[in-house]
Amino acid sequence: MNRSNPKWMVCKNTDTLNQTALKLFRDLYQQALSKKELFTVLLSGGKTPEAIYALLAESSIRFNLEWNRIHLFWGDERFVPFSNAQSNFGAVKRLLISKISISPFNVHPIETEGLTPTEAAKRYEEQLRRFFNSQIDSLPRFHLIFLGVGTDGHTASLFPGMPELHEKDKWVVSSYIEKLKSHRITVTFPVLNQGQNVLILASGESKADILGVISRADDATLYPVQRIKPVYGKLTYLIDEEAASKLSRKEIAVLED
Ligand code: 6PG
Repeated sequence: MNRSNPKWMVCKNTDTLNQTALKLFRDLYQQALSKKELFTVLLSGGKTPEAIYALLAESSIRFNLEWNRIHLFWGDERFVPFSNAQSNFGAVKRLLISKISISPFNVHPIETEGLTPTEAAKRYEEQLRRFFNSQIDSLPRFHLIFLGVGTDGHTASLFPGMPELHEKDKWVVSSYIEKLKSHRITVTFPVLNQGQNVLILASGESKADILGVISRADDATLYPVQRIKPVYGKLTYLIDEEAASKLSRKEIAVLED
């Protein structure tokens, strides 16, 4: 099964990047609704998507988003309380959830409080299996997966050198990240690669080097983010011109104005 190569969408600046991501969210939401499906979204942590979350809140009425048809999940979480500034759920709650009318039944954070990292990962996997009514072998196929990429090529909380990069069975794992001196909970590649539309967001000069390397080696798996190869779905790198400065022109499929 040949997995399609990523599409590279380069936007003039972060405003265009955010607006492009917003439009994609709306289009995929409308597609899901037209198929009478609940729209399932796996959210990314980090700073890059924060403006998109805020824009989603602002555009909710204009786009007529029916939040009871949308379910929000997280691709990874820092092992901290939701009130901690580091919490990925905390960021989305501040930027989006607190500004829209969405039922708690539609919001599926990675619980950490009162749990060990291992318990948190196990519980989230159980939660995903329950929601997707999944038996042992059928993986969830999120309509939209937001991911970021670190300068070291990590994505979600899948960092270089982690044994969990090779996890084939578990959907969610926990790991102690030595360089961050903290535990992380993350969805694994088997789930990420079932995504119907995977959007890797990157902006700024700091991401230019890693993106330049990644763009020249579609089939390599040197960096964790290169293991994102959707089995059936589409992979798009949505980046701004600064982050694209080390890409050769041939990789750029679409230059947003
Ligand atoms: C996290 C993210 C992580 C992030 C990258 C990029 O929890 O931090 O899942 O993978 O997407 O580190 O982060 P920035 O968007 O802040 O550059």
